[in-house]
Amino acid sequence: MSHACQKCIHPDCAAEYDLYQVLPKCPACGNLLDIIYDWDQLRIPSHPMMLGRAAWPSGGMGAISGVWRFGDLLPFAPLEKRVSIGEGHTQLRVSPNAAAYAGIKKETFRLQYEGLNPSGSFKDNGMAGAFSHANMVGAKVAACASTGNTSASLAAFASASGLMRAIIFIGDGKISYGKLSQALDYGAVTLLVQGDFDDAMARVQEVSAREGIYLVNSVNPFRLEGQKTTMFRVLEGLNWQVPDWVVCPGGNLGNSSAFAKALYELYDLGIITKLPRIAIVNSSGAPTFSRLVNDHGLKWNGGRVDDSIIDSYYAKLDADNVKASTIASAIEINRPVNLKKALRAIDRLNGVALDVSDQAILDAKANIARDGLGCEPASAASVAGAKQLVEKGVIDRDATVVCILTGHQLKDPHATVAYHSFSEEDLAKEYGRFGIATSKYGNRPISVANSADDIVAKIRQTLG
Ligand code: F0G
Repeated sequence: MSHACQKCIHPDCAAEYDLYQVLPKCPACGNLLDIIYDWDQLRIPSHPMMLGRAAWPSGGMGAISGVWRFGDLLPFAPLEKRVSIGEGHTQLRVSPNAAAYAGIKKETFRLQYEGLNPSGSFKDNGMAGAFSHANMVGAKVAACASTGNTSASLAAFASASGLMRAIIFIGDGKISYGKLSQALDYGAVTLLVQGDFDDAMARVQEVSAREGIYLVNSVNPFRLEGQKTTMFRVLEGLNWQVPDWVVCPGGNLGNSSAFAKALYELYDLGIITKLPRIAIVNSSGAPTFSRLVNDHGLKWNGGRVDDSIIDSYYAKLDADNVKASTIASAIEINRPVNLKKALRAIDRLNGVALDVSDQAILDAKANIARDGLGCEPASAASVAGAKQLVEKGVIDRDATVVCILTGHQLKDPHATVAYHSFSEEDLAKEYGRFGIATSKYGNRPISVANSADDIVAKIRQTLG
């Protein structure tokens, strides 16, 4: 092989394909593809402190890329084909309130905040990868299905670069206004598919194959290359000391798969000498990964995953007409496309899968925000998950834990305002279907008369 290729994840197939082929899955067996590198042909700085200093594409965008500065570790695209909108400027933050909420020592607890990306979510990391590959192969139209963040990201890359048109497939009514507004504003062709995300995902795969449209969902292995960089920035923020745990929300399972790949590649290169454990957190309203792992014993099994377990799980969902349903709309997904790679992630990283209630998600979100970090509901699944794992004794109170906050607070303000300001009765009316009944950590707005006297009185009463 040249320095890199695409390779089927199934060990009995292991077919390899050129980097310039556009393959949403392995043509030989239908499994997912990885990007693999012949590291011996590449020059990787051996000291971690030298990482993160690679050249980034400056042409036009004038922005530092937190993805391409780690280009040495995802060297699939020639420099002139790399596209950036200034993604990957994220922070690893201390968060005393969320630490206390999760039951972890504040000194060893961190939140990796990806809401600072240009389109407001971690998706920009991955889109830098997929969009650059689309650019390498000369694509003129790119598409994705989305619960809202992938579409916002694709739409931003397409309009900012002017390189191609974006077509996005949304489950009608299954997207927050914050995210829909981005796709519309950035000028993407926006299709509201009558169905949910899982339907939109199936249709975009069908249509893009039929029409030769470039697909940027995380089934695209180049997306995951970009998403590896979150782990590089986490490690950089920890001075390359490996944490005990990385905890992230699970939807289509791209992020968790990418994190694991980043970590074991660094490990295999000898850049880190220990691997963290990973926890992948579903919402209980979309619990496929957690159920398959915990209740049905689904395993990576050296890459020979028992497909019959997955097929019968999906057949039962269909027979019972079960649809994903969660306030964390970003992860309202019952058929995650990266399921097998996520199984590999928990296999290699001694990981766990779990699910948390929507009430737990909103309570965690309110506690995160008290540290000045606004996130959308799906992101807070990470902290809710860490709390559950501490309570179960899986995560130690003294462990070094990094929870990933995947998207910005303003992506979905409706849920936030409802949590803080609705009466319990109204909350139950609005979100009872998600099992949300209370807002224990709510910060109620105060009605005041249009009078300084009343306002002063209310302020004094509140501040005590
Ligand atoms: N958090 C947020 C804010 C997301 O938007 C998503 C996925 C996830 C977590 C889950 O990450 O899919 O890698 O497991 N959003 C996709 C979208 C599905 O279309 O924007 P994952």
